[in-house]
This record gives sequence, structure tokens and C-alpha cells, in this order.
Amino acid sequence: MAVTGLYKHLVRHKIFIEWRRYFLDAEHSRKMLRLPRVVKPRACFLLKKLAWRVAMDEIEQMQNKQVNHIDDALKLAASRVLATSLSSLMQMPNRDRLIYHFEDLTVDCSRQLLDDDGLTALFQLADACHLPDRIHDMFSGVPINITEDRPAQHVAVRRPDHQASEAYQKLSAFAESVRRNPAITAVVNLGVGGSDLGPKMVTQALAGYHDGPACHFVGNICPTDLHDVLVQCDPHTTLFIITSKSFTTAETLANAMVARQWLVQHGADVGSAMVAVTAAGARAQEWGIDLDHIFAFADGIGGRYSLWSSVGLPIMIAIGSDDFSRMLAGAYAMDCHVQHTALQQNIGVIMGLLRVWCRHYLHLPTYGLIPYDQRLASMPAWAQQLDMESNGKSVDRYGNPLTHPAGPLIWGATGTSAQHSFFQWLHQSVDIAPIDILVAMQPAAGLDNQIWHDHHKSLAINAVAQAEALALGASNLDEPHRHFSGNRPSVLISWDQTTPYALGRLLALYEHITVISGFIWDVNSFDQWGVELGKRMAHQIQSAEGLERFSPAAQAFLDRLNKPRT
Ligand code: F6P
Repeated sequence: MAVTGLYKHLVRHKIFIEWRRYFLDAEHSRKMLRLPRVVKPRACFLLKKLAWRVAMDEIEQMQNKQVNHIDDALKLAASRVLATSLSSLMQMPNRDRLIYHFEDLTVDCSRQLLDDDGLTALFQLADACHLPDRIHDMFSGVPINITEDRPAQHVAVRRPDHQASEAYQKLSAFAESVRRNPAITAVVNLGVGGSDLGPKMVTQALAGYHDGPACHFVGNICPTDLHDVLVQCDPHTTLFIITSKSFTTAETLANAMVARQWLVQHGADVGSAMVAVTAAGARAQEWGIDLDHIFAFADGIGGRYSLWSSVGLPIMIAIGSDDFSRMLAGAYAMDCHVQHTALQQNIGVIMGLLRVWCRHYLHLPTYGLIPYDQRLASMPAWAQQLDMESNGKSVDRYGNPLTHPAGPLIWGATGTSAQHSFFQWLHQSVDIAPIDILVAMQPAAGLDNQIWHDHHKSLAINAVAQAEALALGASNLDEPHRHFSGNRPSVLISWDQTTPYALGRLLALYEHITVISGFIWDVNSFDQWGVELGKRMAHQIQSAEGLERFSPAAQAFLDRLNKPRT
């Protein structure tokens, strides 16, 4: 699959650097090749280069053979399970081998279209792709984001020692001051993509821990987004957080401009009512934000991986720095699990391999996330950016065209509501879509009376019932429209209760699933060049540059758009 990447990957590994130096050191080679002193060093060097090339080709062929062999085994495993029923696979002895536990988190993969040999071959693939090295490189700050020459630093801000850092101390002190300040009744986060989806999703998911001022999230340039929030806010008691890693995003800056005008119009103090969260402090200062009110984060933290950093300021204001720290602790626990656990017991690795298995070997182009928790309603949208902006690629990290599809289309909605919308498709469509069903075993904190416990029990029962129904089906050949073929894979993920710790652990798991499947597909999961063209063309239209390149249909649309309103 990723042989060229592998070869370059190996080259990057010191082993080969050493060997290469050993190989290419003219003097050394003369001795090694027992060549008389008279032979010019230049000649030795060229000879060695040739030998090196030969050695590398040999290694490449060796790796090719190994990976192709594994690839063949996986293709065989896929055709085998597609000819088997999931219900018979689920009855296999020691099927509970596919049920993994980490603390109170249970990841039940027993309803996957996968048999033992298939799983073994997946672990061999992980080895052949040097997955432990790749994971190690990420945690040790190697610049694995090679197109931007940056490390992936989202894991670094989850480490406990980060909370002693000046940046974190400044952030938590500010968040606590806002929470203590009765003059601030509302906080509006202005940000889009990773500067919106993560903090919005977590603030919503932990609504039960929310004891700070009201929090609003505005990301869209659609005027209704900011308008509908401003009408709920008092300009004299509202704090705006301009969250933008680049501090160049058009929507965010346009919304910030309108917010500033709104404050000025109402005679509010802009200096104290606007702060910025960014990796581009100088730009925020230029825009007019006081240095004390700029909360920085590292360039190596990708937007879609950034909710743990200063981008989490609205979360910290909503739930407090103690619960925020508990969320980081949950994520850090998952980081340690992924970093130090053997592949065969490593939940991040297994879920990452299952992503590749479903997409590449079972040819299932989409993957659904169904949280059975109304407060996790924004999780699928967060996971969409996380996974599709990371692995929605058609070249490997070195720019070579992929010979296989990479990341799936991610979609989802909450259970049980989704049972009454697209579950018809999930159960009876010709197409099959693997899904994750996510459910806590207990209702959220504070919902202690029996009524809520009964409601929650019914929620969890529906979650497992749907997983079983999709897998086992129900044959009814007399009434084909009532026939359920089954064989529809899912992973049932459950934990005790959705606390800040449990949520941090769960979200970190999904980040690792994305990164690890990206390592296997050998794409760069940390860049997003694909978002640039649309922005560039919008900018060209806005500045009326190069309009001739646009289609007649677009020209006609623009003519109608620019028609003076009577
Ligand atoms: O356009 C995509 C993107 O760059 C995302 O990767 C990012 O999360 C979002 O826009 C917002 O970017 P910024 O935080 O720089 O405003």
C-alpha cells in the first residue's frame, strides 16, 4: 500500500541515515571495498551510491513483497467474511477477543465483519507500516506534518506538565476571572472550523457542568448566525473571543468587525470586551487586541485538533478550569494508552485499523457516528472536520498519487432520534455503512431521579438493540420488504457516565483513530491544502479579479446577485 512512503519513511529513520553515512563515506568505502589507495575517492563515492541504490531497491522489493503478501491476506480475509454471516462470526469461540476495555471504557468490535485471521493480518499491516515508530514520532515531536514542516503538538498540551506553563496559567486565570465577574453575562466565540466545532461540541456535551456565563458560538458568514446571537446579548455584559489560528479567516474577521462596531455603537469598552485566541499574535495585535488579551497556542496544533489548547477558552469559561483540567486528564490517559500499549490491545490502533479495513478491504466508503446522547449532537460535525480534513486526500505525504481511497465520508446524528430518520437506510439499503454507536451506561450528572434513570436505561437498551439488529438481521423471505439481511457492522462504545474526564478520553480516542488510519494510508493527516481553492476563488470574485475564468453560469449568478435591489 504505502511502499514508496515506507521506503522514504525508512530512509528518514536514523538506521538508514547511519548506514548511508557508513556506505557513502569515500574513505570508509575504499577500506570496505578493499580498493587500493590509488582509486580516487570520487570513484568510490559513485560506486557507493550505486551500491546504496541497489541496496535500497532490494529493501523496497523486500518491503513490497512483505506488504503485498499482507495485502493479499487481507483481501482474502475480506472475501471470506463477505461470504460469511456476521451472526456466525459473532458466535465464533473467543469472539470476546474483539471486546476491549480501558478503565470504564468498553469498545465492543465483536459486530465487525472480521475474523481472527483478518485481525492478525491487520496487525501485520500495522507492523509493516511501522506504526509504533509513527506513533512514537508524533509523541516525540518529530515534524510529521511534512508539507508544513511542523510537529503535531495537540498531544503536548494534554500532558499534565503543560498546565504549569505560562500560557496555560494565563488562560486559566483569565477564564476564572470571567467566571467570577458578574458584569459578564454572555460569551460569544467567533471562530469557524476547528476554532468553533470543538469548543462548541464540548461546551454542549458538558452542559451539566456549565456554571459560567452563557456561551454562544458564531462561525458562519451567514448574517443570521451573528445576528441571532447579538439579539440575545447585552453589549455591556458580553465578552467576544475571536478564535482564529491564522487570524486571517475571512468569516471570523468579518464577524469580529461587526461585533466591534456593535460594541462601539452601544458605547461599550471594546478593549475589555474583545479577546483573541490565535497562533498569530502579531496579527491579532495589529487588528487591535491588547497583548494581555491574546491567548496564544502553538503553530503545530492543527485547528481540528485544537480544542485542548487556548481554543478551549470558551469551554474553560463555561465549566471552570478544574473540569477543563479533568477533560485534559482523560485525553492524556488515552494518549498514554495509545503510546504505550501493544498493538493487539491498543484501542486507538484497533479502531484505526478497522477504519482501513472497512474503507479499503470491505469497500465501504462512509462511516457513521451515532452518539446516544443528545448533548453529543455536535460530535458528528466535529468528527467530520477531524477525519475528512485529515484523511480526505488523494496523494500520500510525499505527494505521490494514492493507489487506494483514504478517509471515508463521515456522517452521523444522535440516537434514538436517528432511528426514526435514516436507520431505515441503515437496515435495509443495498449499501452498507459501518457505524459507531456511543452510549454512557448512566444518565448525565444531576439527572438523579428515577424517571431520568428509566429514560436513560431505555436509551442504552435501544443502542445495543440497534447494534444487534443491524448485525443479526431477521430473515423474512415471504415478505421481502420485511426482510432484514443483517451483516451490517458496528462498534458499540460505552462508558460509565459522560464526565469531563470521560469525554476527554473519548475525543482523544477519535483523534487517534484518525491519525492512525492516516499513518496506514500514509497521507499527511495534519495539512488541509484542499480548502484553499474555494477561498481563493471567493476572494477573486469579491475583489472582481480574473472574473473571466468563471463559468457563464457563475457570471449569470453574480449578475443577479449584484443587481441593485429596488
Ligand atoms: O479552511 C479550513 C480551516 O483552515 C480549518 O483547518 C480551520 O480549522 C479553520 O479553517 C479556521 O481556521 P483559523 O482557526 O485559522 O481561523
